[in-house]
Amino acid sequence: MDPALVHRLASGEGWGLLQSLPPYDASEAMSLATRLRGEGFDAELVSAALTQSDLRARAVPKFGAAAREMLFTRDGLEQATRTRIAAHHATRFVEAGVRHVYDLGCGIGADAIALAKAGIALTAVDTDEATAAIAAVNLRHWPRAQVQHTAAHDVAIPSGEDARGCGIWLDPARRTPGVADAQGRTRRLFRLEDISPSWDDVRGYLTRTPAAGAKLSPSFPHAAVPAGVEAQWTSYDGEVLECALWAGATVRTPGRTACVVREHVTALVTERDALGAQPLPAELARLGPYLYEPDRAVIRAGLVGALVNAADGRELSPGVGYVTGLADVQLPWARRYAITDAMPYNLKGLRALLRDRDTGTLTIKKRGVSLDADQLRRQLRLQGDRTTTIVITRVGGAQVVLVVTPL
Ligand SMILES: C[S@@+](CC[C@H](N)C(=O)[O-])C[C@H]1O[C@@H](n2cnc3c(N)ncnc32)[C@H](O)[C@@H]1O
Repeated sequence: MDPALVHRLASGEGWGLLQSLPPYDASEAMSLATRLRGEGFDAELVSAALTQSDLRARAVPKFGAAAREMLFTRDGLEQATRTRIAAHHATRFVEAGVRHVYDLGCGIGADAIALAKAGIALTAVDTDEATAAIAAVNLRHWPRAQVQHTAAHDVAIPSGEDARGCGIWLDPARRTPGVADAQGRTRRLFRLEDISPSWDDVRGYLTRTPAAGAKLSPSFPHAAVPAGVEAQWTSYDGEVLECALWAGATVRTPGRTACVVREHVTALVTERDALGAQPLPAELARLGPYLYEPDRAVIRAGLVGALVNAADGRELSPGVGYVTGLADVQLPWARRYAITDAMPYNLKGLRALLRDRDTGTLTIKKRGVSLDADQLRRQLRLQGDRTTTIVITRVGGAQVVLVVTPL
């Protein structure tokens, strides 16, 4: 996006036009554009305002009603931290006694807004000029938030005594600038070596700064967690969004942790919860009566042992993630099922079992096995009236089918 256009959109005529637009409706966009041009608005401004209107509508799930007062780029919106998670990040800095955060790659400013709302002063920078201009618009209500168009390594971070009360936040880009798809989105990167600022720089900031945090991909490797740092995998509504590294005063629990955020709950799982978890003996006879499926953040954090402990259970197979147990416990970070049947996996046996159960609709959950659920459903030729849930997974070395009832 052209930075000059951001300034036009944010000032007088442009802002007035944007705020006057009706709720975005793609099917009406063309005729609306024609009408606005007919009213004398410049074509470039109309097009930019309609793009913003579209992006604001898409931003509502992340930002709620606040989206209507913000500007976005397509990439900036996709990469932005949702409000609830950004508030968690900000709380870390508040608890660590930080009064000024250097946000080194602020994007459209979602994390920066949460920090500003928490009363923290900010120096927020971004290498992309238009993105920095947008962040400045989005942070306009907080005079102690300064936005600069510059690179992280050009920011003078206080050191020694002057560093007291200062913190650093990094949310490195995982995209290739300039290589856009048909929707104008840039390609996503998953390798640690490809992030910007670089992994070496991020590690440097984490180890040299009294209070620092960095948001990285959920695929962040366990082996790369620097000593003394807390690596927290966070999920929102079951989707793992990030692995954030916390260093210095922002650490609550060193090592791997999982933070599970759902509509009404936030739950935390730590390595301590997973200590001493025992593996399952191979026999199927030891299964049940309950099956537990941990939230993906817990799996990503390598903390399935916490579920083994909490459910007085055993993981079905090392690394498979499902835990079977004797205890009936409700955990905000795990789903619970009753196991009603268990059998070695084979097509004929499964077809007979489902026929006996009059199954017409089948929910297939699978982990630790590679099979095509849609193809299996076709091969089963289900004709009944009932709904059944099965889990296809491994117990010891063997593939098994568990028939389960969600609790
Ligand atoms: C993932 S986004 C940040 C999202 C932000 N935390 C939010 O919630 O809105 C990363 C940003 O870092 C910027 N960036 C990449 N490399 C940078 C560098 N070396 N210095 C400053 N900014 C950089 C990119 O332009 C991009 O806008």
